[in-house]
Amino acid sequence: MTPTARILVTGGAGFIGSHVSRALLASGRQVTVLDNLSMGRREAVPEGARFVHGDIRDRAAVSDALTDIDSVIHLAAQVTIRGSFDRFYEDLDTNLMGTANIVRSIDPARVRWFTLASSMAVYADCPAPMPIAEDYTTQPLSPYGVGKLAAEQVCRQMLATAGVPLTVLRFFNTFGPGQSYTPYVGVITIFVTRLLRNEAPVIFGDGEQQRDFVHVGDITDGVLGSLGRATGTFNLGSGRSTSLNALSRLLCDRLQAGAQPAHEPARDGELRYSVADVAAARRAFGYAPSRTLETNLDDVINDVKARPSK
Ligand SMILES: NC(=O)c1ccc[n+]([C@@H]2O[C@H](COP(=O)([O-])OP(=O)(O)OC[C@H]3O[C@@H](n4cnc5c(N)ncnc54)[C@H](O)[C@@H]3O)[C@@H](O)[C@H]2O)c1
Repeated sequence: MTPTARILVTGGAGFIGSHVSRALLASGRQVTVLDNLSMGRREAVPEGARFVHGDIRDRAAVSDALTDIDSVIHLAAQVTIRGSFDRFYEDLDTNLMGTANIVRSIDPARVRWFTLASSMAVYADCPAPMPIAEDYTTQPLSPYGVGKLAAEQVCRQMLATAGVPLTVLRFFNTFGPGQSYTPYVGVITIFVTRLLRNEAPVIFGDGEQQRDFVHVGDITDGVLGSLGRATGTFNLGSGRSTSLNALSRLLCDRLQAGAQPAHEPARDGELRYSVADVAAARRAFGYAPSRTLETNLDDVINDVKARPSK
């Protein structure tokens, strides 16, 4: 196993990055966080981490953040499928060129591991509700997916040339405490926030689209479990599928909400069936997602309730 003691977490002030940074510190590693706080919050960066307030597209900020680093976990991104149609230039600039900027800034004599956060959005739509493995066709439906797939390919090519081991992790729909509320990302956080405001959750399309909701604790376990151990490309999901109609029923029951979901026309870029086959991650580094939607929704509900403005 490659030693991974001093880690740069890009996007470490964000939802997944703050959980990953906390877990790395708890495992005894040193952590530097690079984040421009466009979505993340300074308070979410755990105590004990060095914080560099900067942009992944800025070479000076990236060089500063890479000081004394032996591994990179690259999570910083513009994270919105629907929003990436309106902001495709900015999306690609961050998700593709920002990634390229980090890769070109790395000194391969010092950096011995690179983990890239990718997404289920790289896959082609699936004709049936079946789990998809990593060799399933990649044909993104959105600029966000295009950027993520291109970032994967740039990392594979240039890090192989440099001799830096790479893990690409394709996260599925991640839920849990600490996700910022935006109208675009994180359907569970969005639905909970709306229901607590007595507003109807909005389902785009008929609601029978299937999603793989995976808890941020399982994603964190997958990121740390693969670090220094497993190169290659891996799905990180729960392996379970849930329709948006079923999700909204579950949340309405849990919150005893009066509001019923409203349906609006389906939007571009959304996959019909998106469920992970996680067998490869299980084999390679013992990935074993265990936190179910039913038993972990209260985390999100309590987190949203505790926020100052609902
Ligand atoms: N949340 C999900 O369901 C999900 C699913 C698939 C993949 N992912 C991927 O996981 C990673 C983390 O996502 P998240 O849900 O924590 O999102 P997030 O928005 O909470 O975190 C992203 C962080 O990156 C920072 N950032 C954005 N642009 C930046 C830039 N140019 N320079 C520096 N920092 C910048 C933001 O401020 C934020 O803190 C992303 O790469 C995302 O594409 C997330």
